[in-house]
Amino acid sequence: MTTDLPPPHRIVILGGGTAGWLAAAWLCRALQMPDVTLVESGDIGIIGVGEGTFPTIRTTLAALGIGEAEFLVRADATFKQGVLFEGWSTGTDSYFHPFNLPVGGEDEALLPHWIADADPRRPAWADAVTVQEQVIRAGRGPKRPGDPDFSGPMNYAYHFDAPRFAAYMRDISIAAGVNRIEGTVARVERAEDGDIAALVLEDGRRVEGDFFLDCSGFRALLIGRELGAAFTSCASALFNDRALAVQVPYPSPEAPVRPYTLATAHEAGWTWDIGLTERRGVGYVYSSRHASQDEASATLHAYVGAKDGSLDPRLLKFECGYRETQWIGNCVAVGLSAGFFEPLESTGIMLIEAALKKIGDFLVPGDRTARNAAARSFNRLMAGRFERIVHFLKLHYCITRRTDTAYWRDNADAASVPEPLRDMLVQWRYRAPSRFDFLVDLETFLPPSYHYILYGMGFATCLPADVARHPGAAEARSTFARVRAAHAGACAALPDHRALLDHYRRQA
Ligand code: FDA
Repeated sequence: MTTDLPPPHRIVILGGGTAGWLAAAWLCRALQMPDVTLVESGDIGIIGVGEGTFPTIRTTLAALGIGEAEFLVRADATFKQGVLFEGWSTGTDSYFHPFNLPVGGEDEALLPHWIADADPRRPAWADAVTVQEQVIRAGRGPKRPGDPDFSGPMNYAYHFDAPRFAAYMRDISIAAGVNRIEGTVARVERAEDGDIAALVLEDGRRVEGDFFLDCSGFRALLIGRELGAAFTSCASALFNDRALAVQVPYPSPEAPVRPYTLATAHEAGWTWDIGLTERRGVGYVYSSRHASQDEASATLHAYVGAKDGSLDPRLLKFECGYRETQWIGNCVAVGLSAGFFEPLESTGIMLIEAALKKIGDFLVPGDRTARNAAARSFNRLMAGRFERIVHFLKLHYCITRRTDTAYWRDNADAASVPEPLRDMLVQWRYRAPSRFDFLVDLETFLPPSYHYILYGMGFATCLPADVARHPGAAEARSTFARVRAAHAGACAALPDHRALLDHYRRQA
């Protein structure tokens, strides 16, 4: 059976930040939509932060049909292989959340044997099941110069300069035919049926469309202000609501570039430290309930090693949360207008990608009934995803053993832990997390990520005493030995991170 009903023809995107221009590039290049218009306001500008990404970005970029070398140079991008957490559990600990899956993939058979091993010299879980921690600690890139675009022996994502990335997406979108209009939206015109009919700019110009993407950032001009979708705050679980961000030059142009994000815990939050080719991006994400701006600034100065008052950090205010209804009628929110979580696991851009891929699937020919059904499915899937990310982020905080400041004590207070996570943690005291704890369609972070965080943080799971005598025990020991034996070879086979970046620079 076929349908004669066309999909929405004229697509209008409001907003030219990472969300807006990535959406434009996706619609015109990956989905080949012929009539896409983007409205952005030079007066308002973009948020211009968001330097860490998730491995999904590689498939997104590949679908846009761009080359990896060109992307690396245009966005000033570097390779990211995971997040190294310093001081989150006891204040002096260090553990890695690698992007590599454990050896054996999502098979959970090894974990009980690692848990049951009482040897104090036992390697950390991440180190026992993948070579990636050794690779990053040796400063190696995730791939070799000859590897195909967007793939390599290690799983990876990128760090990039957010304004340069948005500008790159803008250039390829405009080259592919996207119509860019500069102007500030003053009001929204509605049709009789409640759909958005047009955006009216301050100078009176009207921009009509059949379907609208609200990429207007925290303002959420269409989905929030115009259509009234409620914002669900997650501040009771995720306390951080401020960030102080600075750019830090390298001591020399040849200085090593970290191939991972460094996330260091402090008294009232944590710092991100991201290596780009010519500078580091550093920011202190903190809770204004637990530290004043002056205290936060002092922490940032101390972290960077700068004399007090010598930095001029940019203050960003936010509230963690999301809209459960992100698609209403002929409007869908993408980016900060849909929701935002603190950048601990780089979920912002990944959620933009997830929304765009779903819009591509759901925005099919059909009548209003089909469109409204698609909206409900989209809203269920996206709200589920956001909710599950709250649990995963809270996991990083609530199992801390730090009691040195009110921030960490409050974070470990059971009253701040969402009930579904509390229920899982109680069970995980007696069994490891398994795939049956997760609703795969809603998950961004699968069981291996939960394992890396839980056991990296030193969470104790008590298993029955006979696990170590289980028939699989000998096989598990030999797998761990194989991974250990592969460490040196993996580091030797991969290039220094900066040397790899220089290679791409020469190629572009
Ligand atoms: P953004 O604010 O960039 O763009 C909004 C656009 O709408 C602008 O073009 C503006 O001009 C336009 N606009 C608004 N009102 C208008 C009007 N009336 N008329 C016309 N135009 C209008 N994410 C991530 O994945 N990794 C990370 O490491 C981080 N780090 C991070 C740190 C901090 C402190 C914050 C606050 C956020 C992050 N993020 C992040 C999130 C990331 O920054 C964010 O997801 C992307 O930049 C997307 O932003 P948007 O495009 O949605 O909004």
